[in-house]
Amino acid sequence: MTDHNVLFAATMAAIGFSPPELPDGHPEPEALEGANRTSRCWTSTHVGELRVGSPEHKHEVCRMFRETFNPYRPAVLAWPKLSPDMLQRVASLPIWDIAVHTEGRARLRFAAYAATLQTPQVRDAVMLNAWEEHRHKEVLSNMVNAYGIALGPEPAYRVPRDPEWMYLVTGYCECIDSFFAFGLFELARRSAFFPVELVETFEPVMQEECRHILLFANLVAWQRASLPWRRRIAFELRIAAAWFYIAWERLVLARSMKANGMGTGQDSNFTMTSARTVTPVEIGVHGLMMLCLQENDRRFAGYDARFVRPTTIPALARLALFLARPWARKRQGEPEQVTPWVTAGRRTRHGRAAAERAPDEQSPAGG
Ligand SMILES: [Fe+2]
Ligand SMILES: [Fe+2]
Repeated sequence: MTDHNVLFAATMAAIGFSPPELPDGHPEPEALEGANRTSRCWTSTHVGELRVGSPEHKHEVCRMFRETFNPYRPAVLAWPKLSPDMLQRVASLPIWDIAVHTEGRARLRFAAYAATLQTPQVRDAVMLNAWEEHRHKEVLSNMVNAYGIALGPEPAYRVPRDPEWMYLVTGYCECIDSFFAFGLFELARRSAFFPVELVETFEPVMQEECRHILLFANLVAWQRASLPWRRRIAFELRIAAAWFYIAWERLVLARSMKANGMGTGQDSNFTMTSARTVTPVEIGVHGLMMLCLQENDRRFAGYDARFVRPTTIPALARLALFLARPWARKRQGEPEQVTPWVTAGRRTRHGRAAAERAPDEQSPAGG
């Protein structure tokens, strides 16, 4: 075991967390399908209101996270054989190093925060989240090994000195990244620029990120609502500071990318650059934002509507679309190549029935 794996295992052991049992061998397609369905749909048996901040809210959110766990084993995931062209396309995506490092950091940050929690069910839910980040890292590592993609050296992962702060920063970063990843992932799927088997292998990972930010938004909302007012003010200030910190960090990153000749240094352009790496078809900012919003709604549609959803980034995307209406109107009449993709979904082996319906009810607002 490498040093950082030892560190993560020690953090798990220190709080008495046992990793979940996973079935041996290759699962049958029906079992796989069933597990994927279970992970994307969950409704509480609690009757009536689930007041945010109530013990029932906390209990049901933790139960949802436990019961939607998908027991796939990274080692049995099938990596399809790729043609030399396709292999080159996959290997040249500029995301593998940063994806592995992000998962490595997230698992340790969530585990460190879990260790500070007094409520066993919340601690177990956050620890399971940490363990799933560890599994994402394993999935990515197996994939790059299978395709012979060379990664740079891993950074030194450290246990954070202020676990709550890092939990907030990492959680809100996941809310931002997942929102755009949902759209880009769907773009890759619809464009058939990559083999469908490869895209679908990552589907459980993508849905897990949706569960993670659902858990995060609800735990933050629960904490907000259950704190006495003085501590609540301090917590709100921490949340505001976390958003400022993330905005600053991303601005610095965008500037350094510009300085290194990667993109123009603007975040929307970075997203558009990513879009160009997953599809050969031109898609505008408007089309991509629409797709991200649709995918965001689709992925959350199967979970109990009484839970809080992450709302800040979708609200900002809607605001951007609203403000950009004059330009969109000006472009009316121009051919919009992405329209058929944005308006039509596609059924896949991962059961997209819930996917293609919009949420019937408005869910409460979260982070
Ligand atoms: Fe992850
Ligand atoms: Fe995550």
